[in-house]
Amino acid sequence: MTRGKVVAADDPGVRAAALRAELGRLNDAYHTRDEPLASDAYYDALFRELQAIEAADPALQAPDSPTLRIGGAPRSDLPAVRHDVPMLSLGNAFDDAGIVAFDRRVADGLGSPGPVSYAAELKFDGLAVTLRYEDGLLVQAATRGDGSVGEDVTPNARTIATIPLRLSTDKPPKLLDVRGEVLMCHADFDAINARQRAAGVREFVNPRNAAAGSLRQLDARITAIRPLHFFAYGLGSFDAGPSGAVVPETHSGLLDWFRALGVPVSEHRTVVAGSEGLLAFYRQIGELRATLPYDIDGVVYKVDDFAAQRRLGFVARAPRFAIAHKFPAEEATTTIENIVVQVGRTGAITPVARLSPVFVGGVTVTSATLHNEDEIHRKDIRIGDTVIVRRAGDVIPEVMRVLVERRPDGAAEYSLPMRCPVCDSAIVREEDEAVARCSGGLVCAAQRRQSLLHFAQRRALDIEGLGEKIVDQLVARDLVRSPADLFALDQDTVAGLDRMAGKSAANLIEAIANARQTTFARFLFGLGIRHVGEEVARVLAREFGSLDALLAADWTALMERKRVLQKENASRRTRDETVRAIPLDGIGDEIVQALAQFLGEPHNRQAITRMREVGIVWPENDGTIGLIDEPDSTPASPAGVLSGKTLVLTGSLPDLTRDAAKAIIEGAGGKVSASVSRKTDFVVAGEDPGSKADKAVVLGVPVIDQDALLRLIGQA
Ligand code: IVH
Repeated sequence: MTRGKVVAADDPGVRAAALRAELGRLNDAYHTRDEPLASDAYYDALFRELQAIEAADPALQAPDSPTLRIGGAPRSDLPAVRHDVPMLSLGNAFDDAGIVAFDRRVADGLGSPGPVSYAAELKFDGLAVTLRYEDGLLVQAATRGDGSVGEDVTPNARTIATIPLRLSTDKPPKLLDVRGEVLMCHADFDAINARQRAAGVREFVNPRNAAAGSLRQLDARITAIRPLHFFAYGLGSFDAGPSGAVVPETHSGLLDWFRALGVPVSEHRTVVAGSEGLLAFYRQIGELRATLPYDIDGVVYKVDDFAAQRRLGFVARAPRFAIAHKFPAEEATTTIENIVVQVGRTGAITPVARLSPVFVGGVTVTSATLHNEDEIHRKDIRIGDTVIVRRAGDVIPEVMRVLVERRPDGAAEYSLPMRCPVCDSAIVREEDEAVARCSGGLVCAAQRRQSLLHFAQRRALDIEGLGEKIVDQLVARDLVRSPADLFALDQDTVAGLDRMAGKSAANLIEAIANARQTTFARFLFGLGIRHVGEEVARVLAREFGSLDALLAADWTALMERKRVLQKENASRRTRDETVRAIPLDGIGDEIVQALAQFLGEPHNRQAITRMREVGIVWPENDGTIGLIDEPDSTPASPAGVLSGKTLVLTGSLPDLTRDAAKAIIEGAGGKVSASVSRKTDFVVAGEDPGSKADKAVVLGVPVIDQDALLRLIGQA
């Protein structure tokens, strides 16, 4: 953990003073300027350390310590609002043991004979607000502020679409304070930051700060154009007045009531029993987290029964009856030790930050992508900088921002190297491209390595056992320069590699030999041409039908014809005439340019010729509808026995690869879909069919095997 400016002192008094100063500084930036200087995890660590020092020696408990306060001081330019019931915070637990201990404390405190009933809900990562309804009308909204005094944001809250201006009931209570969280969804956050960027103004660090910055505006018209949401999670003051309204007896009942009144409440909540129930909820939400459209930083458990809550009461800053169970922080503070570049298959240069190891998102992270040079300059990232890194779900760790005030003296602006660190070829960046590239092509070992891995992957030539470790050795020992060389390898050579005992060498040689039989589309995809993914490769295979036709293509003429036909069709359509099929439909200029460039390189053509020579084969005219060869015919959709039928493939078929089965079905006019629905005509099931076959049975869709499929189309 980076300690920032906090002095490491042996004397606890000195250390406590330093911690107080640093926490004060961070608090101020966070609460009064919506501009955090450090990650929550860093703040929490300092806060807990200070708490521990003060607890160990009460003489060190300063009267102005941040541990005695609940939040930040209110910002002065919005009117102040005093909360008549203070807005408290929650104690935290970070692991199962902390929750088991919480549950035990609660059960002991209540003298409960059985498991305690808890309301479990999300811990929204936004800002706390309280909404005051008098006689059913929204009369005031206030932020939490320091817990006792917050800011009046009434006009701003009125612009939030989901906050009701009037409660939906005929008999509203005289007074009802609804407490909850205001937050911003990821998509809206991204859109707002894109706008900020375009306008050349400072971007928001995360959705929570964007929500806070948007709500705490003096001019509510600004809030109005920032989409915010609200979820209720608690009650403040209440006075039924003559309405006769009664507050439910449980927290879960309270939230149901809020919902009935038209106040938004999250659907992700439940009532569970004991610590086992709590931990199961935690895991369930942990899995759901990445799919939620907004940030949560944990879950919250509250004793469900209000009478029991009252008996348990409060400790200094927080209730005894509730606790927040935090997820591992997704953001953390660390330093950039170095910036290196990685070279991709197409030569793309990606700068990567090497980080001081830091625990974030549940794992220790040592590097983070910096995307490209512009991104580095936009964020002004330099070697030696202290930065906030983020790792959410399985996403590649990313450097979010620099803590500029912690920049060491003399840290220089970063620029990409001029030459490739792997092959020393020039690094070039086209004018309107964000990405710089190594110009070395297959001369560059890094690009060779990546192209071999791409060629061998399951979705391309599918060479089982040809993984990174083997490819690295083949490239390093210069045994393989281009994919064709793989087919010249002999068993002795392979057996000489590390981690290649006799049997695995034989297996690999066999896998390579088997890979010779493929499909045209897989072969094209395997070449690793920029922008040519599987789908584009399939279109190319279908339209050209043969490698010779593809190699002979006049790309300029094809694109020209495409444009002409597109225009013609547009006018024909209106006169209800036959529409002519357009060549390379769905293939844009960018792809065509990449194809023309790749196939225009003599060394690429040579590599392709060599692959043919080593015996890579595929069924000729595989999946073709002959469009390119017969330019003026009007290819109807291939009529056949499966015309208009939709089939789903599942499990592995005895003699057909998935691509081959797909080609056969499409050849007979059918369509292959990925998922089973009532509209599916047949499910073709092989070995280990999985849930698609089950679903077919449930929906009454016929399930057939490979033989039945072939009989159907008369190929048995
Ligand atoms: S209850 C007396 N419930 O977390 C308990 N708080 O550290 C008061 N928060 O300031 C809070 N989701 O901003 C509660 N479901 C939830 C919450 C929640 C988010 C925030 C809230 C509060 C902080 C407590």
